[in-house]
Amino acid sequence: MLLKKLTKNELGELKDMINTARWQEKVFLTPNKKLLDSDVVSFIREKKKGQYWNYIIWHKNKIAGYIDFELLKEKRGHIAGIYIKPEFRRKGFATKALDFALEIFKKQGCRLIYANIFSNNKPIKLLFENKGFMKIKRFKHPVAKDLALRLTLNF
Ligand SMILES: CC(C)(COP(=O)(O)OP(=O)(O)OC[C@H]1O[C@@H](n2cnc3c(N)ncnc32)[C@H](O)[C@@H]1OP(=O)(O)O)[C@@H](O)C(=O)NCCC(=O)NCCS
Repeated sequence: MLLKKLTKNELGELKDMINTARWQEKVFLTPNKKLLDSDVVSFIREKKKGQYWNYIIWHKNKIAGYIDFELLKEKRGHIAGIYIKPEFRRKGFATKALDFALEIFKKQGCRLIYANIFSNNKPIKLLFENKGFMKIKRFKHPVAKDLALRLTLNF
C-alpha cells in the first residue's frame, strides 16, 4: 500500500468514491448531492486556500481509496474523509492512512484532532477508537445520529 498526493488524473475516481460513499453506502455527513468533476475541483480549490491534504491510497497500481484532512484554526486537525473500496477493506489500509495523517498533524504541531462520523458506522467508529479517539458530543443531522470524536496527541 502506498499513499500519493492526489493529482488531476485521479479526480474522476475520487469523485466516484465520494459519490459511492454518499449514495450507496450513506456514510458521509455531507449533503446528499451527486458530485460532478467540477464540484470536486472547486471543493479542493476552496480547501487549498487553507492547509489541506488529499492522498490517494494505491495498492499494486490500483486505487484502493483516499484520505483527506485539513488544519483548522488554532492548530486543530480535522480528518475530513477516509474511504477504502470494498475489495480492499480489512487489510489495514485505513489504519495506515490515518497514521500517516496523524504524523503530518504532529509535524504541524497539532495536538487535537477531530472527526465527525455517523454513530451507526461501526467500522469507522472502531477504526477511530482503536487510535484513541473519544466521543466528545452528539449532534443532530437529518440522516442519522452523529458523533463528534476527538484525539489528543501527546508529544
Ligand atoms: C471504515 C473504512 C475506512 C475502514 O477501512 P479498512 O481499510 O477496511 O480498515 P482497517 O483494515 O484499517 O481496519 C481497522 C479496524 O477498524 C475496524 N473495522 C474496519 N472495518 C470493520 C468492519 N467491517 N466491521 C467491524 N470493524 C471494522 C476493526 O477494528 C479493524 O481492525 P481489525 O481488522 O484488526 O479488526 C472502510 O470500511 C470504508 O471505507 N467504509 C466506507 C467509508 C466510510 O465509512 N468512511 C468514513 C466516513 S467519515
